[in-house]
Amino acid sequence: MSEKTIESLREALKYSPDNVALRLLLAQTLLSLNKLEEAEREYTFILTTNNDPKAKSGLARVFYTKGSYSACNVILEELIEEGSQDTEVLTLYAKGLLKENYVSKAIETYKKVLALDPKAYDEELDSQLRLKGTLEAPELDEEVDNRFLQKPTINFGDVGGMEAVKKEIELKIIKPLMHPELYKAYGKKIGGGILLYGPPGCGKTYLAKATAGQVNARFINVSLNDILDMWIGNSEKNLHEIFDLARTNAPCVLFIDEIDALGASRTDMKQSAGRHLINQFLQELDGINNNNEGVLILGATNTPWNLDPAFRRPGRFDRIIFVPPPDEVTRESILRLKLKDKPTETIDYNQITKKTENYSGADIDAIIDIAIELKLEASFTDGIPKPIDTKDILAAVKKHKPSTQEWFMTAKNFAMFANDAGLYDDILHYLKIKK
Ligand SMILES: Nc1ncnc2c1ncn2[C@@H]1O[C@H](COP(=O)(O)OP(=O)(O)OP(=O)(O)O)[C@@H](O)[C@H]1O
Ligand SMILES: [Mg+2]
Repeated sequence: MSEKTIESLREALKYSPDNVALRLLLAQTLLSLNKLEEAEREYTFILTTNNDPKAKSGLARVFYTKGSYSACNVILEELIEEGSQDTEVLTLYAKGLLKENYVSKAIETYKKVLALDPKAYDEELDSQLRLKGTLEAPELDEEVDNRFLQKPTINFGDVGGMEAVKKEIELKIIKPLMHPELYKAYGKKIGGGILLYGPPGCGKTYLAKATAGQVNARFINVSLNDILDMWIGNSEKNLHEIFDLARTNAPCVLFIDEIDALGASRTDMKQSAGRHLINQFLQELDGINNNNEGVLILGATNTPWNLDPAFRRPGRFDRIIFVPPPDEVTRESILRLKLKDKPTETIDYNQITKKTENYSGADIDAIIDIAIELKLEASFTDGIPKPIDTKDILAAVKKHKPSTQEWFMTAKNFAMFANDAGLYDDILHYLKIKK
C-alpha cells in the first residue's frame, strides 16, 4: 500500500463515487498510512449515506489513534448495541475503555473477546488487565452465592485438647453471639476479629470449622485464595461481596483462611494491585461504608509477620492467638479421636505421645495413615484385618518426620528481633526462651 495505491483509488472513485467498497478500501489504506484526517473524511463520507459497520469501526479506529477516546467509544458502543460480535471491534472497545479508565468494563469486554475467540488474545490488553504472576485462582461466580455459607459438621468435641485457644474463641466469639443483650447493656459492640497463627497442620483451619458447630449463628468459610482473581479489581470486588454476605447474614462468623496469600500477593502481584487489596480489606474490617455489627471475624495464617500492622488495630484483628503444636495431652486426644472407629489393640498412648514431640495434628493424621497401610499389607496374606497396636504406630512415627520445626526457625527470628509490643511472646514462651 502506498501513495500510488491511494492515487489510483481516488481516480477510480471519481468515476463511481457511490462505490462503498472502493471508498472503504481507500479509507483503510489512508488509515494504514496514518493519514488520519483524510481517512476520517472518507469514513464520514460513507457514513452520511450508509450505516456501514466497517466504516464505523474504521472511524472509531481513527479516533482511537488520534487520542479521541470518548468519540471512539461512542461509535463502538453503537456498533455493539447493534449486535456486533466482531472481536476486533470488542478489542478496540476494551482498549478505549481502558484509556478512559473504565477498568472493570474493559475487563468485562476483554473477557467477552476471549470467550468468543480464545485466539483473539491481545498482548497489550492482557498485560494491563491481568495480574502477572498471580496464581490461577478458581473463578468466583459472578454472584457470591450461598456456597460460602457452611453447615457445621464438627464442633469443639472433635478437636482434641487446645483448651487455651478454645477458651479465647469462647470469650471473643461464642459468648458475644449467645448474650448480645449483655453486650448491649454495657454499650459494647459485637464485632472485631481473632487471628489464629502458628505452624502448619496444627489445627487452625480445623478449629475454626469446629467453631462453626459451636456457635448458634451462621458461618461463612472462605480462603483468601478463593477471593484472589487474576483480573485487576476483581479481588477487591470479591472481598467486598464476601463481607456483604456476612453483613446481610449477621449475626455471623466470617472465617477467612490462608491470609498468608495477602503477603504473597505483595511480592507476586504488581505492587500497587496488592496494596489495593490490603486497603480494601482494612476498609471492610472497619465497615466504613457499612455496618459490621454482629459480624465476627476469624482469620488464619502461617505468617502473621507478613501482615500489615494496620490489621491489628482495635476493631480489626484485635486478638492474635498462637496455635501451638499439640502438647502431650492434646496429642493423646488427637490420637484417640483418630483411632476411635478403627480396629485397635490396647494402645499405650503415653509411649506414643512421648515419641511424638513437635508433631503436628496433620503429622499425627499421616502417622495413622502409615500405620494402617503397614497393617493392610500384613492383612493381605490371609485376608483377616488385624487390629492396630502400639508397635505399628511407633513404626509409623519412625517413618514420618515432624513438620513444625522449620516454621519455628523463622518464627523465632521474628519473635526475637521484631517482637512488636510482645506480639510474639507466646512463641518465646513456647520455645522456653522467655518465662
Ligand atoms: N486439635 C486437633 N484435634 C483433632 N485433629 C486435629 C487437631 N489439630 C489438627 N488436627 C488434624 O490435623 C489436620 C490439619 O489441621 P489444619 O488443617 O487445621 O491445620 P492448619 O493449622 O490450618 O494448617 P495450615 O497452616 O497448613 O493451614 C486436620 O485436618 C485435623 O485432622
Ligand atoms: Mg489451614
